Amino acid sequence: MLDIQKIRADFPILSEKVNGKPLVYFDNGATSQKPQIVIDAEAEYYQEINANIHRGVHTLSQLATDAYEISRVKIQHHINAKFSHEVLFTSGTTHGINLVTNGFASILKPGDEVVVSSLEHHSNIVPWQMLCERTGATLKVIPMNEDGELIMDAFDALLSEKTKVVTVNHISNALGIINPIKYIIEKAHAVGAAVLIDGAQAVPHLKPDVQDLDCDFYAFSGHKMCGPTGTGILYGKEAWLNKLPPYQGGGEMIKEVTFEKTTYADLPHKFEAGTPNIAGGIVLGTAVDYLNNIGFHNIQKYEEHLLEHATKRLLEIEGLKIYGTGKNKASVVSFNIDGIHPYDIGSIIDKLGIAVRTGHHCAQPIMNFFCIPGTIRASFSFYNTKEEIDVMVEAVKKAKTMLS
Ligand code: ALA
Repeated sequence: MLDIQKIRADFPILSEKVNGKPLVYFDNGATSQKPQIVIDAEAEYYQEINANIHRGVHTLSQLATDAYEISRVKIQHHINAKFSHEVLFTSGTTHGINLVTNGFASILKPGDEVVVSSLEHHSNIVPWQMLCERTGATLKVIPMNEDGELIMDAFDALLSEKTKVVTVNHISNALGIINPIKYIIEKAHAVGAAVLIDGAQAVPHLKPDVQDLDCDFYAFSGHKMCGPTGTGILYGKEAWLNKLPPYQGGGEMIKEVTFEKTTYADLPHKFEAGTPNIAGGIVLGTAVDYLNNIGFHNIQKYEEHLLEHATKRLLEIEGLKIYGTGKNKASVVSFNIDGIHPYDIGSIIDKLGIAVRTGHHCAQPIMNFFCIPGTIRASFSFYNTKEEIDVMVEAVKKAKTMLS
C-alpha cells in the first residue's frame, strides 16, 4: 500500500493554493508535478558540477559527463534496452518522433505506406504527414470504435508488403485507452514494417520493456514522469539507429570533419548534436529513481482505484458522458456535459482550484470522430486522492448548475 500523504509531502506544489483554494491538480497528462528531490537535484547540478560534457579534460567536465552517462544507463535499465547507446537524449517525445521521421525520409519511396492510428496526438500524426509529402509515401489510418478502441481487424487489413512503418501511441492522451501494442508490433513485423511507439502518456503509469515489446523505436518525455521539462528519450534498436542518417549536424556528433567529407560519431552521439540539456538529462535519472522507489506495480494498482472512483462518481451527474469507455484504460477520464462547452466547465472549476485540461487535447481527429469540439480531461497521478476527485465532482456539479 502507498502512503499517499507521505508521497504528497514530497511535492511542494501540492500544498499551494490556487485562486484561494487548495490546488487539485488533475492535468498530469499535460505535465506531472515534481518532487523535492528532483527540484533539488537540478540546483545541485548547477551548484556543484556544472560543466559541458564529453569535451574537457578538466575534473568538472568529467564529473558532469559521468553523471549524464550514468543517467543514460539508469534509463537503459528502466526500459530494459539491450545497450545504453540505444538510449538517445532528446528534448521530448516530439523531438524523438521527428528524429525518426527525418531518418525515414531517405528510406521511403512513392508507393510505400505508413500506418498511424486514429488515436494519435498531433505530434504523432503531423511529422508522418510531412514525411509522406516529402517521399510520396501514403498515410493509412487504423480506425477506432465508439469505445475509443482501435479496430484490430481493420488494422490487419491495412497491412501489406507496402507497409514500411507502423506507429501508435501506447496510451491515448485524450481518452486514456491503452492500445494493444504487443499485437500491433508483432503484426507489423510480420510484413517487415518498423514500429515506433509514442510512449509519452504511458511512462508515468507503467514501466515499458522495449525488448519484450520488440518495438523498433519508443519515444517519451521526461516532464510527464516527474522529470524536468525539455527532457525526453528516444529508444531505437541499434540496427535502426545505425541505418538512419543523423537528424542534426553539429559538434560532438562527428568523428572527423574536413571540408571535403565528414564522418559521424558512433551511437548515441551521432544523434546528439550540440550541447544538450545536461542538467535535465541527469535529473531525469533522479526522477526515474524516485518513481522506481515507489514502484510501478503500486502506482498502477493505486491509479486503478482512482480511475474507478472517478468514473463512478462522475457518472452520477446527469447528462455527463465519458469518452473512452474501452476496458483497458489508464487513469484518465475525458468527459462532457450535455449542452455545455467544456471550456466553460474548465474555467469555473479552475476558480475553485481545480486544474484540468479542456479542448481537443492536440487530438482533433478523435474529437471529429465523436463530433465534439473537445472534452474536459481529468488525468490522475499516484499523488492524487479520492477526496480530491470528490472535490472535482462537486465543483463540476456546481458548474453545471451555473451553466444550465
Ligand atoms: N500532450 C500533452 C497533453 O495531452 C500536452 O496534455
